[in-house]
Amino acid sequence: MQYRRSGRSGIQLPTISLGLWHNFGGVDNFENSRAMLRRAFDLGITHFDLANNYGPPYGSAEETFGQILKKDFLPYRDELIISTKAGWDMWPGPYGDLGSRKYMLASLDQSLKRMGLEYVDIFYHHRPDPDTPMEESMGALDTAVRSGRALYAGISAYNAKQTSEAVKILRDLGTHCLIHQPKYSMFVRDPEQGLFDVLEKEGVGSIVFSPLAQGLLSDRYLKGIPSDSRAARDFFLKKKDIGEATLAKVRALNEIAGQRGQTLAEMAVAWVLRDPRVTSALVGTSKVSQVDDNVAALKNLKFSAEELRKIDGVLAGK
Ligand SMILES: NC(=O)c1ccc[n+]([C@@H]2O[C@H](COP(=O)([O-])OP(=O)(O)OC[C@H]3O[C@@H](n4cnc5c(N)ncnc54)[C@H](OP(=O)(O)O)[C@@H]3O)[C@@H](O)[C@H]2O)c1
Repeated sequence: MQYRRSGRSGIQLPTISLGLWHNFGGVDNFENSRAMLRRAFDLGITHFDLANNYGPPYGSAEETFGQILKKDFLPYRDELIISTKAGWDMWPGPYGDLGSRKYMLASLDQSLKRMGLEYVDIFYHHRPDPDTPMEESMGALDTAVRSGRALYAGISAYNAKQTSEAVKILRDLGTHCLIHQPKYSMFVRDPEQGLFDVLEKEGVGSIVFSPLAQGLLSDRYLKGIPSDSRAARDFFLKKKDIGEATLAKVRALNEIAGQRGQTLAEMAVAWVLRDPRVTSALVGTSKVSQVDDNVAALKNLKFSAEELRKIDGVLAGK
C-alpha cells in the first residue's frame, strides 16, 4: 500500500480505501463482508468508510462493521481510520435528515453505539442542507470533534463555493476541515471544475468516491448484466444507464487498460490517483477478488500524455 497525506494535516490515508455502502448490510452475507474487510486490512487498507444509513436496512452496515470490529479488529483500532456521516434520510420526522445540529449529533451517537466505538476518526456532513444555516451544520461538526466523538471533521457533496464557506466557518471555530468526499471518476469529472483547486488552496484532502462509476468502469458489464451485479438490482446503478454508447466507451477504455497491462478497474483507480490532490480512491467491492484487483492498480499509477489524451478522446465520444 502507498499512503498520501490528507491536505495540510497529520493524517495519511491509504491511496485505496474501502467503503461499506453496498455489500455490508443486514441483507448481505456476513462472512463475505468479513473476508473483504480482513483482506483489505492485510493489504494495507487502513481506512474504512461508513455512513449512518448504509445497509440495507439503514444502520446495518455499521452494525455489521461493529461485529467484525469486535471479532477481528479491536486490537488494531489505533491502526485504523474509521469514518461515518450524517446528512441523508435516516429516521422519520423532521429530526432525522439534512443538517440540523439536533440530527447530526444524535445520529453520530447512534452510529457510535452501532459500531461499538467510543469515537470515529472522521465525522462528515454527508451533503449540504439548503435550509439550515451552514454555521449550524459546521457547528455540529465542531462539537463532534471538541466532545471527542470524532477526531476530525469532513464534508461531502459540497460544491466549490460551499466548500470555501464551510472550511472558513470551521476554521473560525478552531476546527480544521480534514477532508472532502466528492464523486469522481473518468465518467464524472465535476471536481475538476474548481473544487480540487479550492481543496488545494485550503489544505483539505480529498477521498473520491465511486472511482469505478459503481462498477461500470470495469469488465463487469462487457457481456451483459451479471445477476450478482449492482446493476442487476437496478436501483443505485440503473440498467438503463448501461446503453450502447456507454458500453462503447467502456470497451475502448478496456482496450487502453489492456495496453497498459491493467484491468479496466485497475486503470480506473489509477486514473483518479494520477492527480496528487486526490488523497485516496474510495472503492466498493462485492468480493475479495475485487479488493485484490483494485489494490493491484498501485503497480502502475503513471500515465503518459498520450494515454491521457486517448482516454480523454474516448470519454468525449471520439
Ligand atoms: N459521500 C457520498 O455521498 C457517497 C456516495 C456514494 C458512495 N460513497 C462511498 O464510496 C464508496 C464506494 O462507492 P461505490 O461502491 O459506488 O464505488 P465503486 O468502486 O465505483 O463501485 C463499486 C462496485 O464496483 C464493482 N467493482 C469493484 N471492484 C471491481 C473490480 N475490481 N472489477 C469489477 N467490478 C468491480 C462492484 O460491483 P458489483 O457489486 O456489481 O460486483 C462494486 O460493488 C461507498 O462504499 C461509500 O463509502 C459515498
